[in-house]
Amino acid sequence: MRIILLGPPGAGKGTQAKSMSESLGLVHISSGDLLRDHQNRGTELGVTARDYMKKGLLVPDDLIIDMIEERIKMPDVEFGYILDGFPRTVQQARSLEKALENQGERIDKVANIVVSDQELITRLGGRWICRQCQQPFHEINSPPQIEGQCDTCNGELYQREDDTSEAVVKRIKVFGEQTNPLIEYYSKRGTLVSVDGEGSIEQVRESLIGAVS
Ligand code: AP5
Repeated sequence: MRIILLGPPGAGKGTQAKSMSESLGLVHISSGDLLRDHQNRGTELGVTARDYMKKGLLVPDDLIIDMIEERIKMPDVEFGYILDGFPRTVQQARSLEKALENQGERIDKVANIVVSDQELITRLGGRWICRQCQQPFHEINSPPQIEGQCDTCNGELYQREDDTSEAVVKRIKVFGEQTNPLIEYYSKRGTLVSVDGEGSIEQVRESLIGAVS
């Protein structure tokens, strides 16, 4: 099964993809996490991507498409995956479709997580992420048991440099302009399901599992 989680910054894509991948036995592929890993390793892609990410802009399509196409050819994705943060433009969606067609594969479901802008700003302003396993926490909605420490792997929690209020506003605007057209794109292909992302983390998880099953 191949699933795309679509939704604005802070909609809960990472939170839900982590838990769904465990329940459904799928590999979680996050374009943002892959880019941050490139940054930590100081690769050419990581250095180039950082300038765009800090400003809340999208990294150029050709760089992202190459990175994801390479990832979805790896042997561990044999039983399927959840794409989190990719595609984000119509060009990325078309390239993905073509790459999958060449392998005789297709996307089964695209789950669009719907959350209001005000809620997104509240969520991203209070988000902390584990440096080791990338598990997101929220200082009010889902705080860690020990402050500054990940419940899952004891890793150190940090705040992302693109979670500043200026970058968050930009990211939400960029989503509206460049990613929103994907709702129509996948709707026309009959693969889109929309889910209310404003319930509790557990409620949203149940809705998502129901929607993609
Ligand atoms: P990326 O890392 O993908 O960030 P994003 O899409 O902006 O999404 P986030 O990770 O910020 O939010 P999320 O939806 O995963 O929410 P989360 O689960 O953490 O991309 C970063 C940058 O990389 C982009 O801006 C771009 O520059 C570049 N990039 C990446 N992919 C690209 C692409 N394809 N093309 C071009 N550039 C690309 O949850 C947020 C918070 O809310 C957490 O604190 C969480 O605990 C809390 N929370 C979650 N669910 C709930 C709930 N139901 N109720 C209350 N709180 C909740």
